[in-house]
Amino acid sequence: MGVRPVGIIGTGIAVPERVLTNADLEKIVDTTDEWIISRTGIRERRVAGEDTPTSVLAEQAARHALENAGIDVRDIDLIIVATITPDTVFPATACLVQEKLGARCGAFDLEAGCTGFVYALATGAQYVATGIYEHVLVIGAETLSRITDWEDRNTCVLFGDGAGAAVIGPVSDGYGILGIDLGSDGSGGDLLILPGGGSLHPTSHETVDRRMHYIQMAGNDVFKFAVRIMGESALKALENAGKTRDDLDFLVPHQANVRIIQAALKRLNLSEEKTYMNLERYGNTSAASVPLALHEAVEGGKITDGSLVALVAFGAGLTWGSVVLKWGRGN
Ligand code: ACO
Repeated sequence: MGVRPVGIIGTGIAVPERVLTNADLEKIVDTTDEWIISRTGIRERRVAGEDTPTSVLAEQAARHALENAGIDVRDIDLIIVATITPDTVFPATACLVQEKLGARCGAFDLEAGCTGFVYALATGAQYVATGIYEHVLVIGAETLSRITDWEDRNTCVLFGDGAGAAVIGPVSDGYGILGIDLGSDGSGGDLLILPGGGSLHPTSHETVDRRMHYIQMAGNDVFKFAVRIMGESALKALENAGKTRDDLDFLVPHQANVRIIQAALKRLNLSEEKTYMNLERYGNTSAASVPLALHEAVEGGKITDGSLVALVAFGAGLTWGSVVLKWGRGN
């Protein structure tokens, strides 16, 4: 089996219409618009209606990406959905998306917290690189509002719903994915966790009474980890690509907190024009965050053919990951 160049040949996004502003949150928990903006950079987030589970947002983003890639759904060979908010524990949300799209291919979910899309991209690319498949559809999709504790001001101000998708396919020599870094540290698993509903704490009246079906987070510890790991991981992926931070044209970071992104920029010696932030409008959408930012940066002309781009994320697990790629398909 040989290895051929593989890249992203189309992206798409979907967000629910309903906007929840910081002013709305002031009415629910003891917080202020000023606190949320100064500590996180978030002004508003989207919230999906009851009739919109994760698979619906995933399907919409996927259709958008297929259209932009100019690929018919029948030409998709594999679907990977990265999510921490699947429609159900099983079956996989990817199978529901496959059915909604009318695709005929394999489909599976991948869970790596907010790093999910980066992991899925790195995974899907291998099938195309080896020539086993021609096109893989990778989706990061979340309805975090369903697992948010709306009584916990420490977390409920941070998250939002949305989806982003990318079609992966063969590209010309020198284009596409050049370097990857994936990491995990399970010793930090408790720092960011939804403890209930799994095989350790199956759902019971007690788990519900103890609010174990909601996200629990040690915000400050995650913050410190994120500040360190974003720069480190990007540098490692650059090294794997045979590049340095001076070669980097653009950073697409996980959209968790403006202060975390600023720290990563500093580490990579990049100015704020060399990154894209939409967390002000969407909050932290976990696995959807990187593809949402990537798509908007491409649409806005910030990333163009030949740009050397680093996609960088961190999240529950703990996990982290970076993909360095030269944007475009080449000739
Ligand atoms: N409104 C007002 N006050 C608040 C709020 C709020 N919404 N939330 C917390 N506070 C208070 C706290 O209670 C605390 O008060 P105290 O000192 O009296 O106890 C004070 O603000 C400071 O809290 P800190 O945690 O020290 O604030 P910090 O500067 O660390 O900011 C934040 C908190 C924004 C959560 C930050 O730690 C952060 O961004 N952490 C990373 C979160 C993250 O990236 N998560 C990734 C999720 S990835 C995934 O896989 C889902």
